[in-house]
Amino acid sequence: MRLSFSISLGFALFTAAVPLAAQSFDSTAVAQLSLMPMPASIHVDSGGHLPLTASFRLAVPRFKDGRLTRAADRAITRLARRTGLPLAHTIARDSLLGTLVIDVRGPGETVQSVDEDESYTLDVTTFRAVLRAPTVVGALRGLETFQQLVTGAGSGYAIPLAHIVDRPRFKWRGLLIDVSRHFEPVDVIERNLDAMAAVKLNVLHWHLSDDQGFRIESKRYPKLQDLGSGGSYYTQTQVREIVAYARDRGIRVVPEFDMPGHSISWFVGYPSLASAPGPYTLPTDYNFTAGAFDPTRESVYRFITRFVAEMAPVFPDKYWHIGGDEVDARAWEANTAIHRFMRRHKLNDFGALQAYFNKRLSRILAAQHKRVIGWDEILHPDLPHDVVVQSWRGQGSLFTAAAQGYSGILSAGYYLDAMSSAGQHYAVDPIPTGSDLDSAQAARVLGGEACMWGELVTPETIDSRIWPRTAAIAERLWSPATTVNVNDMYRRLAAVSVELADVGVHHLSGPDALWRLIAQTDRIAPLRALQRVVEPVSLGQRMHTRRPTAFTPLVQPGDIVTPDAAEGRALSALLDTLFRDPSRGAGLRDSLATIFSEWQAIAPAIATLHSRAPLLTDADSAAAALAAAGAIGAEALRYLGGGPPAAGMWISDRLAQLDSLAAPRGLMRLAIIPQLRRLVLAAGATAATTGQ
Ligand code: ACM
Repeated sequence: MRLSFSISLGFALFTAAVPLAAQSFDSTAVAQLSLMPMPASIHVDSGGHLPLTASFRLAVPRFKDGRLTRAADRAITRLARRTGLPLAHTIARDSLLGTLVIDVRGPGETVQSVDEDESYTLDVTTFRAVLRAPTVVGALRGLETFQQLVTGAGSGYAIPLAHIVDRPRFKWRGLLIDVSRHFEPVDVIERNLDAMAAVKLNVLHWHLSDDQGFRIESKRYPKLQDLGSGGSYYTQTQVREIVAYARDRGIRVVPEFDMPGHSISWFVGYPSLASAPGPYTLPTDYNFTAGAFDPTRESVYRFITRFVAEMAPVFPDKYWHIGGDEVDARAWEANTAIHRFMRRHKLNDFGALQAYFNKRLSRILAAQHKRVIGWDEILHPDLPHDVVVQSWRGQGSLFTAAAQGYSGILSAGYYLDAMSSAGQHYAVDPIPTGSDLDSAQAARVLGGEACMWGELVTPETIDSRIWPRTAAIAERLWSPATTVNVNDMYRRLAAVSVELADVGVHHLSGPDALWRLIAQTDRIAPLRALQRVVEPVSLGQRMHTRRPTAFTPLVQPGDIVTPDAAEGRALSALLDTLFRDPSRGAGLRDSLATIFSEWQAIAPAIATLHSRAPLLTDADSAAAALAAAGAIGAEALRYLGGGPPAAGMWISDRLAQLDSLAAPRGLMRLAIIPQLRRLVLAAGATAATTGQ
C-alpha cells in the first residue's frame, strides 16, 4: 500500500491558506540566488522571507529513519555555523512545531540503485519551509537546496519565499577518484563525499587498483596489499565505513578493479596471474606498461572468482567497474600459449581475446549479482547487453554504445586533470542539442562522471583540482539542458565554492598552505595575487615539460595554482563593459590602470621571496612576464585615453611580445594574454569603437 503523500491534516490546512499559485513570482529574485545545481523548476516571491532565528526548529513527522535523523542533525549544525545562531538539535515530531518540516514518504531503497527516486519539492512561506520527498535521498537533495537558499540581509538571515520542484536530469552523476597513483586517506575521501553531496552528485567511482598500487585489503589474497600497495591501502573496515558514510549522503560507491591492463600491482604478489612470468615491481613512474592478466588460464578465473566473492559484500552497489582501458597488445603478443589459445577458440584478434575475458568476468560478477561497467574499449560485438560503457576517448563511443543497445555514461570532456576551465566542462553535455539519438537511445545515456586521475594530485592538492570545477559538471548532470548561461554559472560557482569550503574540502585553504610551505613565510600576498592571473599548463604540456614520477613531491607553483584564474575572467568582463559602454570609458580605464600597475608591483615582491626560496622559480618567471604584460596594458591605455590611435608597427610589435609572454613559465602560464591582445588591437582602432 502506498502511503499518501501529503503532510498532516493541520498542516495541509495551513498550506491551503497560502496558495502559492496566487503569489507573484519574481525572476530577478531567482537571478540573485546562488543555487548550484539549479533546480528543475523554481519560483521565488520577492515579497517576503522566512526569517531564521534562534527559535528555528526542524520537524520530521511521520517516521523515524536513522539516515534522515543524521542528515537533519548535520543540517542544523551547518545552519548554525552559517548564521551564528545557537540552534537546538532536538527534532520535533509535530509539523506545527517546525520551521523546516521534512515530510518523507519512505526510506528509499535498502541498497541505493541507479533508479532511486531523488526528487523533492520545497515550499517556503513566511511561517515555515516544507520539504517533501518520496525517499530519504530526495530529502537529502532538498536539504542541500535549503542550505544554499540561506541569505544574509542587514539585520539577519532568512530564506526567500520559494516554490521548488526538483529532480535530476540524469540518474548517474559521479566523481572518479584514483587512489592508486597517489593514495588518498579516509578523511580525504570523506570530505570529498560531503562536497559531492552538497552539489547532489550520487556516485563515487573509486579507482582502487592500477599499475602503481593496489589499495584495498584482501584477507584471502593478502599479498595484494602487502606487496602491491607500498603500505598505503584501506582496510576492509575502513572501506565499509566509507561506503556507509557515502550511503548516509545518498551516494553509491562503485569500485573499480582495472583489468586486464593497468594491473601490475596485482602481479607483484601474484605473478602467475600475468601473461608474462615477471617478476614484477610497482612502477615508480607513469609510463605506459605492457603488463596484463592472462585471459587463457583457468587458474586466473578461479583467483578472480574468489577475489570477487570476498569483495562483493564490502561493496553493496549493483555495479562493479572492470576497467578494460588501454590494454597493451605487447603483453599478449609475446606469449605463444596465448596465440595457441586464440586459434583454438577462434579469437581472431586481441580485441576478441579481451571480449572473451570480459564475458568470463561478467559471468563471475553475475554470480555475485553484480552488473559490469567498463571503459569504452570494452565495446565489442560479443559483449553482453547489460554492460554499461563509460566513454572517455570521445563522446562518439557513448552514442555508438547507445545505438547498439548499451547503457553508457560520459567522462570524455570531464577529465579534471586536463586543467580545463569550469566553463569548458560545463559546455559538455551527455546528450548535446541536435544529437540524433532517438528517445530509447537517449534513455540509455545514464549520465556522466568527472574524473580525478591521481598522477598529479596529493592529499594536499586533490581538493583544489576537484573543486569548485566539479560543481559545474554536477549542474550539467542534474539541471535542465536549458541551464547553459556560463556567466551566471560562474557567478553561482563563486558562492558555492565558499560553501564547499565550509562543508569541508580544502580547495581554498590548501593553496595558501602550500605557498607558505614553499615561500617559507606567511607573507604570501604577492603569491596569492599572482595566483589570480595564472593557470596550470594543460596535462599534455605538464607531462612533456617535467614528467613526474612517484617521488615527485608536487609542490611546484604549477601544482598550487588552479584553472579559472579569477582575474582573467574579471578582466574580460571589464573589457566587455569598456567596449560596450563608451560613457564609462574614463572610469574603467582608471580601474585597468590600477590593475596593470599592481601587476608591475608583484614582480619585485616575488623576486625577493624567490631569493630565499628556490621553489619559487616558476612564480618568479611568471611574475616577470606579468609585469611585462602590465607595461603593455598601461601603454595601450594611454592610446585609448586620447590622441591618435597606435601605429601598426607598435601593434605588431606588442602582439609579438604578448605571443612570447603566452608561453608557459615552467608549469604555469599567464591567463590574461587574450585580454591584453584585445586591448592592444583596440588601441590601434578608431575612437568610435574604444569608448573615448
Ligand atoms: C583512462 O583514462 N585510461 C580511462
